[in-house]
Amino acid sequence: MNITRKHNTSVIREFSRFSKDYNSYNQIQAQVAEQLIHKLQQKHYTSIADIGCGTGAIYNHLINNEISFDAFEALDASEQMLLLHPNGQRVTKRYFDFNKPEGFEDLNNKFDLVLSSSALQWSRDLDWTISKLAHIGSSFYGAIFTSNTFKTLHEAASIASPIYPSEEIKKVFDKFYKEARYDICRYKLYFDTKKELFNYIKKSGVSGGEQKLSYKQTKKLILEYPLDYLEFEVLFIKADC
Ligand SMILES: C[S@@+](CC[C@H](N)C(=O)[O-])C[C@H]1O[C@@H](n2cnc3c(N)ncnc32)[C@H](O)[C@@H]1O
Repeated sequence: MNITRKHNTSVIREFSRFSKDYNSYNQIQAQVAEQLIHKLQQKHYTSIADIGCGTGAIYNHLINNEISFDAFEALDASEQMLLLHPNGQRVTKRYFDFNKPEGFEDLNNKFDLVLSSSALQWSRDLDWTISKLAHIGSSFYGAIFTSNTFKTLHEAASIASPIYPSEEIKKVFDKFYKEARYDICRYKLYFDTKKELFNYIKKSGVSGGEQKLSYKQTKKLILEYPLDYLEFEVLFIKADC
């Protein structure tokens, strides 16, 4: 069975539906956001954008690491996630969909730093999204989940990953930025029971609720999944225009 790239409105719906649970089901994304902020080389930026900001992991890590800024723009296509993002004197929260041209117009050359953690795997057309992102800021630091996330699970269910392989992501950044550097990180998240493992997938926002398996298929998958952990793979990107 093949699953095509999921239509974005349903991804946003899933994030909105589970927005209140997000902070309890996002251990890996929390770690990824922290690692991303540790890669920053300056202690001050003029204007920062956070693409797919969610409930504010990036903002919180900037504050905790004493990285200052004059302005911070938190951008997300889920109103519910934006509501949960911290407010602040220097913070602007804005509804923004990285799959649509509308929001990009106002952002051109606005930022010296564009950040994005655990969100851009849901770009419907990564080539198009990154071509636009390259125009809004001179420096980009991001983390994107790759198709090796849930690899064994996808193999067991005979489904294709709905997200991009790392090689495809790299090609896109090489095309639109002058210089791009990459790091791959792999993570394992262990569970006591299969029930907890499958519950996590539903609520974490990593899958975006991607699989539409029947009840019978899901039951078979739970029985046959050979691991007591989930696999994640993240590509870290540092790119300059
Ligand atoms: C896994 S969460 C990551 C949130 C946050 N960056 C973090 O590290 O915790 C992914 C976020 O991307 C947002 N998102 C998904 N598709 C989007 C789109 N097309 N445009 C803007 N935001 C999107 C979701 O609403 C969600 O808040």
